[in-house]
Amino acid sequence: MIKNIIAFSHQLLRESVQPGDIVIDATAGNGHDTVFLSNLVGENGHVLAFDIQAKAIEAVRMKLTEQHIENTRIIHDSHENVAVYLNEVDRIGGAIFNLGYLPGGDKSIITHGESTIIAVETILELLKNNGVIVLVIYHGHKGGVQEKEAVLQYVKQLDQQKFNALQYGFINQINNPPFIIAIEKK
Ligand SMILES: C[S@@+](CC[C@H](N)C(=O)[O-])C[C@H]1O[C@@H](n2cnc3c(N)ncnc32)[C@H](O)[C@@H]1O
Repeated sequence: MIKNIIAFSHQLLRESVQPGDIVIDATAGNGHDTVFLSNLVGENGHVLAFDIQAKAIEAVRMKLTEQHIENTRIIHDSHENVAVYLNEVDRIGGAIFNLGYLPGGDKSIITHGESTIIAVETILELLKNNGVIVLVIYHGHKGGVQEKEAVLQYVKQLDQQKFNALQYGFINQINNPPFIIAIEKK
C-alpha cells in the first residue's frame, strides 16, 4: 500500500514527466535514476545526468551503453551549473536529486546544501508548470544533517502561491531513514 522512498520518488516523476521532456538527474551516481528517466522521456526526450565523480560518470556511461540508451547526456560537472547546459528556451520536465555519497564509493564525497540549493533554485526557474523536483534526502552520514537542515529551510520558505512543497518519509524506522522532499511548480 504505502510506497517506499524509491518507489514514491519514481511515482511523482512518472505522473508529471511527459514523453519528449528534458529532465535532469542531478546526482547520477550509479545511474539507476538516469535509466529510469531515460525510459520515461523516450526517444524524443532528453536526460541531462550530472555527477562530479569520475567513478560515477564511468558507471553511468557503462550502464547506458549496456542498455543502448541514446537520449542521455552525461555531464561531469556540478549540478549547480545546470543552466550552462540548457538553451534559453528550454523548459525542464522534472528532476531528481539523491543526496549524500555514492553507494560503494568514497563516503567523503557528498552533496552539500549550498550547491544543492543553487541547483534547485535554477531548476525551479526553468521547470514547466506542474513539473516536479524530487529530492531524496539521506542524512545519516557526516555532513548529512547540515545539508538536510539547509534544504528544509530553503524549501519551507518557497511561496505557496507558486509551489507545492511536500515531505514524505517513514517515522518509525531506525538509523536516520531517507525521506523525500518534492516541489511542484503550480
Ligand atoms: C546518493 S549518490 C546518487 C545515487 C544515484 N542516484 C544512483 O542511482 O546510483 C550521490 C551522488 O551525487 C554526486 N554529487 C555530489 N556532489 C555533486 C554535485 N555538486 N553535482 C553533481 N553530483 C554531485 C556524488 O558524486 C554521488 O555520486
